[in-house]
Formats: sequence, C-alpha cells, structure tokens
Amino acid sequence: MSVGSLDIRKIDEWVESVEEDVVNWRRYLHRHPELSFHEEKTSQFVYDTLTSFGGLELSRPTKTSVVARLKGGRPGRVLAIRADMDALPIKEENDFEFVSQNEGVMHACGHDGHTAMLLGAAKILSRIKEDIPGEIRFLFQHAEELYPGGAEEMVQAGVMDGVDQVIGAHLWAPLEFGKIALISGPMMAAPDAFHITIIGKGGHAAQPHLTTDSIAIAAQVVTNLQHIVSRNVNPLVPLVVSVTQFIAGTTHNVTPGSVYLNGTVRTFKPELREEVPTLIERIVKGITDAHGATYKFKYEYGYRPVINDEAVTANLREVLTEAFGEDFIQDGQPTMGGEDFSAYQQKAPGCFFLIGAGNTEKGIIHPHHHPKFTVDEAALPIGVKAFVACALKLV
Ligand code: NI
Repeated sequence: MSVGSLDIRKIDEWVESVEEDVVNWRRYLHRHPELSFHEEKTSQFVYDTLTSFGGLELSRPTKTSVVARLKGGRPGRVLAIRADMDALPIKEENDFEFVSQNEGVMHACGHDGHTAMLLGAAKILSRIKEDIPGEIRFLFQHAEELYPGGAEEMVQAGVMDGVDQVIGAHLWAPLEFGKIALISGPMMAAPDAFHITIIGKGGHAAQPHLTTDSIAIAAQVVTNLQHIVSRNVNPLVPLVVSVTQFIAGTTHNVTPGSVYLNGTVRTFKPELREEVPTLIERIVKGITDAHGATYKFKYEYGYRPVINDEAVTANLREVLTEAFGEDFIQDGQPTMGGEDFSAYQQKAPGCFFLIGAGNTEKGIIHPHHHPKFTVDEAALPIGVKAFVACALKLV
C-alpha cells in the first residue's frame, strides 16, 4: 500500500497530527458565522490559514471564495475537492462555549465543519506534496445556501477548468457517526421556487358578494396544486410541490384584495422539471378564471439535481472501503433536498457523499437548519481522512 515513496498506512498518523487544528478551526468558524455572499472574514481566515501551510497556489475567484492548487510531484489527473463556507440566518440556541458571536447568524448546516476538514486535508497534503499524483484543487466555496449559489459563480470563474473529477461531502446529522453513505446516480433534487399572487377585489368582510375573495380562491389553489403530484405525474417519479408561504389579510372584518403564495418544487427528471411550471400555472389560471380573479406567476429555477457519476462513485467506494473498512460504508437514500454541488458536476464527473455526524448518545440529534443543530466533532477527522485518501488514491 504505497503511493510513490509514501506509505499510506501512515494516513491515521497524519490525520491525528491535524485533528486539534481542525477542531479549533471549526470552532473558530462556528463562533464567527457569515451569511451567503458575505463570507468576507471567513474567506480571509481560510486564505491566511492556507498560506501558512506553504506550497499552495492561492486565488480568489470571487469576492468571498478561495481556491488552492496543490501541484503534486508526480504525473496524474486533476481532482477538485469542495467545501462550502456559508452560514444561515438562524438565531443559535446552543450553549457550548463556541456559540455564534454574530447575532442571528449560525452555522446550522455543518459548513464550518466542511471548511475545517478541507483545511485539514490541505495541511496534510501540502506536507507530502512531492508524492502526490497530479493536482489537487481545493475549492472553498461561498453561498451554498442562497440562489443562485456560489458554485455556479465559481464555475463561471473557471475553477473547474482542467478538472478530471470532483468530490465533496456533507456532514450529515441524520446519519450516525461511524458511517459514510454513498449514492450512485440521482442523489439530491433540483430545488425550484414559485411565486403566485392571486388578485381579487377587497372589501367589507360582511359583504362577500361585493368582493372577489382572494383568500378563498388562494385556498383552492393550494389544495389543487397537490393534484399535480397525485394525479398528473407518474407515482414512480419523485416530485414535491409545497406551498410554504401564504400571506394575506390584516384583520377579521376586511377581505384582502390579494394573496401571495410562495413555494418549492423538487424534481430529479429534467423533462418533469420543465413541465411543472406549466402544470402549476394551468391550475392557477383555471381557478382564478372560474372565480373572476386574476393572478401573477413567476417560476424561479434553482440548482440542478446532484447526479453522482457511477464510475467515480464506484472508485470512491473502493477508496473509502480500503480506508475505513466495509462496515463503515453504506448505501444512502436520495433526498429531495438540493445542493449546488451539481454545478461542478456539469464540468466533470463527480460524487457527493455523506459523512455521519449525528450521535444520539451525545444528544446530537437536531436536524440541519435547526437552532440547536451541531455535529459530532469526532466526524471531522473522518472527513479529513476521506479527503486525503481520495487525493492519493482516486487518481
Ligand atoms: Ni449544507
């Protein structure tokens, strides 16, 4: 088991040597979260930390992202590894000592851990640069949580030029610590959004015949939209249509003139993704016509679905099984959640995988985006090891 003059059996020693740094970096980032597209201090911290390792070529493809290139001493292909760095507009309710110092902003998805893990891998790999095959490109991405997403901007800036394979991982709270989940093929859905305004005629609530009741009409729109999922689309094809915002009215005796509806659509199949806006608008138009109202409709395309490349996923499974043992690796289930990692997969075959970060015994049970979300820090060295193993063997 050697890579050039390297003995890869030392990987655990290497990981151990950066473990304390990785935990400290994660805690620093957790304390100082920044919102999507505003990761100024975060990206500076990442840039400065990478600089301290030496041997990396650094660049800032966008205002708040960082790319580090490690050109190995041996021939080989180019592997990109991505970590996202942004936080969420959530008021943290944890009470550990490294709780958010930025009121109303919180690392509630684990991106602090992703950034710390990739820094740890970069630190290890920059020390053994001469033995590395090809090039490892570390992508520290801004704005995963907010459309249009940072990944697309980075791709536009050319960070994927010349890349042969791309990988990324998410610390995953629903998965217990001690597991890595891999999914070949479709993994995460395309998350799109719709905006509907139902325009009726407001008036006195005691005289409904003199109004066009936008609330009653909008309520029918909400229930009828479920017909798309249950009656228009093959039940074996995954689809979510959810109204998530219903804004109307001011008080009990006034019928409002309009209602605003906002919601999400999740799909995997490109043809269905193209069809859904038409199906939604047909219902909105039919119901508003029937009741003498009008509407405004806007459909917003979000990220593409994450589709893991079969060959890369198979190779990754082999590398991770060798590094962690068979019991560690399991087949995951696709989710209707979205991820802009898909932007990189348009440029090179790739795989996005899940690292177990929940721990019932330690009380680490809260879902992602919850004010009490956290990860089991024992999962951080797992991520570091996974990235280092990939850098050396996924070539
Ligand atoms: Ni996330």
